[in-house]
Amino acid sequence: MELQPVTPEDVLLYQRIHCDPEMMKHLGGPFPKEEAPQILERGLAHVKNGGAWLFKVMAHRDFPPAGTVCIWQSEHQGEPIHEIGWTILPSYQGRGLASQAVRAVLDQAQTQERWGPIDAFPTTSNAPSNAICKKMGFTLLEECDLDYSGRALRCNHWKLNRK
Ligand SMILES: CC(C)(COP(=O)(O)OP(=O)(O)OC[C@H]1O[C@@H](n2cnc3c(N)ncnc32)[C@H](O)[C@@H]1OP(=O)(O)O)[C@@H](O)C(=O)NCCC(=O)NCCS
Repeated sequence: MELQPVTPEDVLLYQRIHCDPEMMKHLGGPFPKEEAPQILERGLAHVKNGGAWLFKVMAHRDFPPAGTVCIWQSEHQGEPIHEIGWTILPSYQGRGLASQAVRAVLDQAQTQERWGPIDAFPTTSNAPSNAICKKMGFTLLEECDLDYSGRALRCNHWKLNRK
């Protein structure tokens, strides 16, 4: 597994992630295919202004990307936070790839002394994502209702407190 920066050429990857009913089943359902370029553009703009890391997860350098792992500046209950999120495409799931990718990005953040505490908000129904939070040492704070692009989600709020 290796992480590579997401680039403007990754529209197909974004479409496979954000516009697929299976991938989006815990996130309020798929976005229309036409919206994939804008979702990618918004993410890359956030990277450019220093407010995000966007990586694609490569199972092997010669294979198409398997997913993404990202950290970005956000806000929760009026407070600034740093949020992490991850995706792995169905054909690559269930073999530990998300766990490896999340571990790698957290290690990189620690090494570079970037981001500080990190928050994660998997929906309460998302068993693999909640398992990843637990495994990575996040603490479960509470359940909360979140708005994700107009979708109402019931989420677990996990926090990783680090120096
Ligand atoms: C969540 C997701 C990234 C997991 O990817 P993955 O590569 O399959 O995850 P891993 O193989 O690293 O497994 C993660 C953990 O979940 C556990 N897990 C997997 N499926 C599970 C299930 N149905 N119930 C309970 N635990 C499950 C695994 O056992 C593993 O824990 P372990 O190492 O303690 O055994 C992937 O399912 C996905 O992209 N889903 C759609 C997008 C999404 O929901 N993203 C998260 C938004 S917060």
